[in-house]
Amino acid sequence: MKVDGVPYRSIWLGDDGESVDVIDQTRLPFEFEIRKLRTLDDACVAIRDMVVRGAPLIGATAAYGLYLALRDDAGDDALRGARESLLATRPTAVNLRWALDRMQSVVGELAPAERAAAALDEANAIADEDVETNQAIGRHGLELIRAAAARKPAGEPVNILTHCNAGWLATVDWGTATAPIYFAHDEGIPVHVWVDETRPRNQGGLTAWELGHHGVPHTYIVDNVGGHLMQRGMVDLCLVGSDRTTRRGDVCNKIGTYLKALAAHDNGVPFYVCLPSSTIDWTTRDGVGEIPIEQRAGDEVSSLPATANAASTRIRLTPDSTPTFNIAFDVTPARLVSGLVTERAVVAATESELGASFADLVESETVGTTDPS
Ligand code: MRU
Repeated sequence: MKVDGVPYRSIWLGDDGESVDVIDQTRLPFEFEIRKLRTLDDACVAIRDMVVRGAPLIGATAAYGLYLALRDDAGDDALRGARESLLATRPTAVNLRWALDRMQSVVGELAPAERAAAALDEANAIADEDVETNQAIGRHGLELIRAAAARKPAGEPVNILTHCNAGWLATVDWGTATAPIYFAHDEGIPVHVWVDETRPRNQGGLTAWELGHHGVPHTYIVDNVGGHLMQRGMVDLCLVGSDRTTRRGDVCNKIGTYLKALAAHDNGVPFYVCLPSSTIDWTTRDGVGEIPIEQRAGDEVSSLPATANAASTRIRLTPDSTPTFNIAFDVTPARLVSGLVTERAVVAATESELGASFADLVESETVGTTDPS
């Protein structure tokens, strides 16, 4: 997508061919800075410290990180160690494991001398495919926005609520939840986006930055506003992303997504989750019971960065002794999901429908009990 008229992806091979370049998302929306990743450690730190974030981009960064590791040492031990280091960076987004499995299947059988070049080709392929996948999600999700627009008085905008940042910054380009919005806006359908702040990391600021650069009308709200808006008919559609989706369609996404889904359900607002199939974890069925949820440092909750340019200085919000609990994701049960907007189609959030749409991807092993849907 464009930043001040210049097209960017969120990750790319540097001009010198030596570095993998990313947009430093800890500096946005205040400063646009490019960070150069040159080593495995750089890639691990970038994922862990959320310089890059969002499930698909975490996967792509891990793929490039493996390439950077193999460029330094392509031996079996180094390959194994790099995979373990990258897997340990963040626990919830399954795209991390997906990308590393894919990389392993390509480079694992090769002689060490051939591994780095093959890893770079595969990382590039993962990045390119992510862009195509999100465009396909955009085309399917556009149909939902068209339908919502048809239900509104002519010229009135379709009001879409989104949570966190499932935008192009969270992917390689286009985003998942935002791709349909960008497509609709570009087609001339009037849209307006309610952007949840998404405390404590404030990913809503990233979404607002993106939408602003693309000229999409939007309003920034604190996280508790969504229910009020839905009660008053001020939301036509919710579109969110996913970090991990189970084979029966439970969706794990940024903390607070579940509450939005409950409010949507209570008010008859369609609640759709936009996701690439790389976000489906076919080894899990019960999202609440089986998905590992990241817990982050308590100071993200008990304090705020003091200024845009001094992230290390923080303003305390609570008494020093107050304990905090900073859980980063929650699970929305499939029954609250109106549909899953994937690269192949809009699919019902049931095991049978997901399995039918992605029969080629479903792992042969069966887990748990049979699908009640
Ligand atoms: O903690 P984050 O910022 O990595 O969480 C990101 C989200 O929860 C996104 O909604 C999700 O990864 C989907 S991105 C297309």
